[in-house]
Amino acid sequence: MSDITKATAPTAALTGSMRDFRVPGGADLLKRTEGFFKWQDLRRQNGLWPFSRATEDGPNTICMAQDDRGNKMRGVNFASQDYLSLSSHAAIKETAKQTIERCGVHSAGSPALVGNTSYSVALERKIAEFLNMEEVVLYPTGWAAGFGVIKGLVRSADHVVMDMLTHSCLQEGANAATNNIHLFRHLDNEYCRNILTKIRAKDKENGILVVTEGLFSMDSDTPKLAELQELCREFNATLVVDVAHDLGNLGRIGRGHIGVQDMLGNVDVVMGSFSKTFASNGGFVACNSRAVREYLRFYSAPATFSNALSPVQAATILKAFEIVGSVEGRVLRLEMMTNILSLRDQLSEAGLDYYGDPSAIVCVKMGSEGLARLVSRRLPELGLIANLVEFPAVPKGAARIRMQVMANHSEKNIADAVRILKTAREEAEFELERSRQPAQSPQHVAA
Ligand SMILES: Cc1ncc(COP(=O)(O)O)c(C=O)c1O
Repeated sequence: MSDITKATAPTAALTGSMRDFRVPGGADLLKRTEGFFKWQDLRRQNGLWPFSRATEDGPNTICMAQDDRGNKMRGVNFASQDYLSLSSHAAIKETAKQTIERCGVHSAGSPALVGNTSYSVALERKIAEFLNMEEVVLYPTGWAAGFGVIKGLVRSADHVVMDMLTHSCLQEGANAATNNIHLFRHLDNEYCRNILTKIRAKDKENGILVVTEGLFSMDSDTPKLAELQELCREFNATLVVDVAHDLGNLGRIGRGHIGVQDMLGNVDVVMGSFSKTFASNGGFVACNSRAVREYLRFYSAPATFSNALSPVQAATILKAFEIVGSVEGRVLRLEMMTNILSLRDQLSEAGLDYYGDPSAIVCVKMGSEGLARLVSRRLPELGLIANLVEFPAVPKGAARIRMQVMANHSEKNIADAVRILKTAREEAEFELERSRQPAQSPQHVAA
């Protein structure tokens, strides 16, 4: 153990959350950031701030990285979002190189002007075909697509009805668009129906956007999409489904839960990200109307006023879709799923519990923030890189270590990760117990 992990962690570094500093008081906008920094730095100095890490040579299954103090670590990597391991795929790298040779590295314009490329135009058609939908708009990131689709369609008199656990991009988009935001209990379509009934009893004039995800990124669970889409039709509402985490990697043909639930082409609006499965930054919105597409192109600010995906990104994503749709893609999905099931089995055998259904997201339950932080501190020293997730990203007292599985993980990677996680948890439990003991005075110790 390092000197840091041998020392007892101060209580203030094991408690509190980022929520405490979300609305800092004071007239000086810059000065009032200091409260957060003080708390964060206490955690950092005690090795309990595992965020803002940097990899050295890509998100590979064994990975060199450094924390935000420059401390190096090397370990088996379950912290990267490259589910089908396409970011290091030879054909993807070759495509990127050839595109750079031909076009350089920059789109040099927004999609509303001359930032599109022959690759981005082909990519829009590819995604539409892949999803059995008519039209696609590309965005510079998945976050921008989630924010942009809501802000682009919803006006202040409209309503957004959303699953309470939807991603930040969707929540921020809703907050920017209207004050009429109604959250429904996670995956609870009946609760959603009650909200829609109440809204329509009073307001038949304005729009309602219902927002959910194909696969929730902290809980690995999924709504009943057909039922939700049916509800939207009944109440003259529009459904948006964020498929960031399942598109391309789940289901026999890789269409995620929309495919698994036989809803291809039948969801009003599909929004996604390329950054989990398709080896690039970027996002998209797919719909079934040219009018909606043209409207978003010019009224959804991140699609209008931000530079387009670079030609390298668009060409890379296009190649990734080709692989995902091929026999090789099916093999990669099978390899990924074999790894997921093996990881879940080995965690259970080790007495470690996890959330949700089989997917690339395997969140291992820790409970208190203090315990999870101590586990997370020990992981890189033992050779595992995995992400700590705590309140407010998940409920208080439901902190977890998020493991993200890739197709290229080996059986040994998985066995090593489980062994390390089990050891780290046992040590952290002991450490937490020790930190709760009252400090002993010298006489007490002598006695
Ligand atoms: C559900 C969900 N939607 C959207 C995004 C944003 O995508 P990106 O990281 O590609 O901007 C994420 C990213 O973590 C996500 O988990």
